[in-house]
Amino acid sequence: MTLTLQPEFAPAEAVARIAAASRRKQQPQSSGDLVSLAMGEPDFDTPAHVTEAANASLRAGRTHYSPLLGELALREALAEKLSGITPASPADILVTQGGTAGLAASILAIVNPGDRVVIPDPTYSLYADLVSMAGGVVDPVPLADDLHWDLDRLGAALAGAKLFVFCNPVNPTGIVHSREELEALARMLEGTPTLVISDEAYSDLDYTGRPFTSAIAVDGLRDRTIYCQTFSKSYAMTGWRVGYLWGPRPLITSAARIHNTFNGSVNTVAQDAALAAVRHGDADIARMRAAYERRREIMRTGLAAIPGLTLSAPEGAFYQFPRYDLDIPSADLVAKLVEFGVAVRPGAEFGAHGEHHLRLSYAASEEAIETGVVRLGEGLAALRRS
Ligand SMILES: Cc1ncc(COP(=O)(O)O)c(C=O)c1O
Repeated sequence: MTLTLQPEFAPAEAVARIAAASRRKQQPQSSGDLVSLAMGEPDFDTPAHVTEAANASLRAGRTHYSPLLGELALREALAEKLSGITPASPADILVTQGGTAGLAASILAIVNPGDRVVIPDPTYSLYADLVSMAGGVVDPVPLADDLHWDLDRLGAALAGAKLFVFCNPVNPTGIVHSREELEALARMLEGTPTLVISDEAYSDLDYTGRPFTSAIAVDGLRDRTIYCQTFSKSYAMTGWRVGYLWGPRPLITSAARIHNTFNGSVNTVAQDAALAAVRHGDADIARMRAAYERRREIMRTGLAAIPGLTLSAPEGAFYQFPRYDLDIPSADLVAKLVEFGVAVRPGAEFGAHGEHHLRLSYAASEEAIETGVVRLGEGLAALRRS
């Protein structure tokens, strides 16, 4: 039975703003005859020692509230890990309800109604939704043809902006911004009050062969940037909902105020599991990363054989973002491809400039990738004939 609401109800304006801005749409998981290359989550189980740490935590009765910034032992371990990039104190770390809540807390802590927030176009779709929730104005800046930043356009847009939000490596394009690009960003922002959120959810998945550069390793960015991280991707812990922020203390204190207000503290048992992951998870990261590299190659080879696709450089994360040459919007193309037994994401979901691209995830099994790419080729060929 569905209740009829009495009295009549109009959702808060924030809800309407998110609905108006949002390009996000659920795509189906693999089932029956449908192969999904749409999911942005590892198909690996969480490493057994991490799950066991959670079991041990429960057995030890660790079922009480956690400190509002997060468990001290976890923040100490994270500060030590971060010190490989830049000296960090546990007092400047906020443990969050996944990367999502870290991003939400950061954006709501910074953005006032009417503030202009620059994001790349295309980029991870959550940023625009969160800026809209805060009442800010989203300013999407089209990427260059190679899917890296168009520095001229970016520089022009950043003038007078409150905030720039980006991810590196990039969902959905799979490219990795280099140290040189980050240094160019730092030069553009020099002398301005513009803040930065650097979402490095995929930082362990860089296949370029050069060392990954975090924004907080770059002079001129470090002191204006919130670093946003999550356990979801590196450790196959999407369902545990643990992430963290680090940055200049006033930013972290403000983000903590927002985060505590709508999340309280983060699940204690999940934080104990995360501590095991930070302390003993390096081999797990390496194992899964090696698997993604193999899958990336399988996908790249398969896509390269499909006429009409221009491939993106598969530098990082677990995505490829090919451009297609059919004259059909990506949302319609994705709907038609389901009829051929493969689910992918429309490029337009990540920004208007993502149109005529598809996002494929290789966080699926090798078999799913092989089958999915064959079906994609068949689908595109059939649509080309029709
Ligand atoms: C770039 C990026 N940042 C953050 C997240 C959110 O991760 P979490 O599961 O920790 O909320 C995702 C998830 O897809 C992502 O792609």
